[in-house]
Amino acid sequence: MSSNRADAALASRKAGTREPSVWPDLYHAFAQQRATLLDVIWEQHRYHESRRWNVQQALSSIDLGALTANDRFFVANAGRAELTTKPGADRVTRLADIECRRWLGENDAVAKIMQACGTWSRYWNEEEAHHETAFNFLAVALSLNPPDDSTVIEYRKIFPDDDMLRTLTLLACSEINAAVTYNEYAHCVQEPGLKALLLKVGADEVQHMRYFIAFAKALVDSTMYAPTGALAIAHLFIRPGGEIYGATRSETSIRETHVNWWDHLESSQNGVSLLMGVEKNLSMTYKMVEQITGISVRSPEELEDRWIELLD
Ligand SMILES: [Fe+2]
Ligand SMILES: [Fe+2]
Repeated sequence: MSSNRADAALASRKAGTREPSVWPDLYHAFAQQRATLLDVIWEQHRYHESRRWNVQQALSSIDLGALTANDRFFVANAGRAELTTKPGADRVTRLADIECRRWLGENDAVAKIMQACGTWSRYWNEEEAHHETAFNFLAVALSLNPPDDSTVIEYRKIFPDDDMLRTLTLLACSEINAAVTYNEYAHCVQEPGLKALLLKVGADEVQHMRYFIAFAKALVDSTMYAPTGALAIAHLFIRPGGEIYGATRSETSIRETHVNWWDHLESSQNGVSLLMGVEKNLSMTYKMVEQITGISVRSPEELEDRWIELLD
């Protein structure tokens, strides 16, 4: 395509479009509105490109000598936690493609949702690479006991497969946890470069959450997936003693198959707890449940009741 023709094609495709965003109603877009995978992939790419930021630039504006003991504690833990995002994304890429082929011919709209999800996972993986390398650079530069090679290899274990709706809901919950933690701690940080880095990472995590919710909602909208799968995972996170409280457990959960980042955070020191913003976490989880399933809940108990009612 000549550059003029490419420019014209780009302009016509952009004409009338809003700011790039997460595609809001993917099941109906594929099932009824004749959206194509290339339409959805174009929107994913536009959004990814519009939000990119540069790790080296972000790091260059941090005054390492001005970071407090609490800041150091936080970034060292964040670097370890972010190591587990690559196996998470690798798993979604593979699982989504398997599911795409399983649904093809049986429910083509669901097959397309799976392919759109698998395609987007390349952006998710790349964006998480920014987080991991930024925090681990700081762990090395500040001699904060950075992960050694065997730790990196251990944290790269790929998670076991699960039903796709449960997987997407678990990832949305994990992104909520990450977004709340980064944003809450950003408000405690005095050093402006680190504050800016945490806010950028927190904004990425919110965007990831929105994608996982959109894919999960599309599966429930298709009626091929029962909303109970999403309710079960939300309950796993917010029940008393649930996964959102993982950072406060006195004993680390050792899992043979993989590493859950929230199990391996060091216990708090000097008043810095990695359990931050519980109320915010709960309210974002209730909103997530409503967006995925249409079911409104206002407490962990109500969530459990609705889940059990639907199981009966
Ligand atoms: Fe991240
Ligand atoms: Fe994320």
